[in-house]
Amino acid sequence: MKIVLLGAPGAGKGTQAQKLVEEFGVAHISTGDLLRAAVKAQSKLGKQAKEYMDAGKLVPDELVIDLVKERLGQDDAKKGFILDGFPRNTAQAVVLDSELKDMNIDLDAALLVDVKPEVIIKRLSSRRTCRDCGYTATAGVDTCPRCGGEMYQRDDDKPETVQKRLDTYEQQTAPLVEYYAGHGILKKVDGDRPVDEVYVDVKSLLGL
Ligand code: AP5
Repeated sequence: MKIVLLGAPGAGKGTQAQKLVEEFGVAHISTGDLLRAAVKAQSKLGKQAKEYMDAGKLVPDELVIDLVKERLGQDDAKKGFILDGFPRNTAQAVVLDSELKDMNIDLDAALLVDVKPEVIIKRLSSRRTCRDCGYTATAGVDTCPRCGGEMYQRDDDKPETVQKRLDTYEQQTAPLVEYYAGHGILKKVDGDRPVDEVYVDVKSLLGL
């Protein structure tokens, strides 16, 4: 399994990725999680990335691309990977194509999790995320069911930033739907249904 997950903030990319990882043991490469880990560690990258993330903007390509290249080269990604949140614009997609070509890897699919904006705003305002492992769930879950860490509300899940993230998605990331359709690997799932129903369709679309 070598796939890219596409979809607006809060569409459920991370949720579906978590289920695929649990069932198939592939690597979950989430640039959002990698960047949040860098922010938490207060590394140079984290300090640079934070101001963009807090503003609902994309972190500059040069900061993100090296992270993904390094992660794709790690052992667990050899069994397969789910790219969640990358690529985020056409420039990143072109770099990814070139990197995968050098590694002799073909993407199996780019899967769009399709959800209307009004559903997204509601979902993100009640999302909670694990500080330690990035696991996501809805409000009411205080302890991470995966690692026991503390569940918190991401700074960029506050309503004013959510709208900016949606605008950024429309302007910069939505064009990738056409990009991957042009490559003949686009698949689309209706993400506005219960998680397990979406997951059944995800597996079917991926031939799993
Ligand atoms: P990132 O962490 O990638 O955020 P995102 O794309 O905005 O996606 P989310 O994690 O918010 O949503 P999701 O689709 O994974 O939804 P989830 O499954 O959690 O990026 C954050 C920031 O980092 C960016 O704004 C940017 O600044 C930077 N960044 C990241 N990658 C970058 C890149 N490549 N280039 C430049 N900058 C980058 O679900 C949401 C909620 O809904 C949860 O509570 C969940 O439990 C619930 N839910 C999920 N599915 C369902 C369902 N079917 N029914 C009901 N509830 C559901």
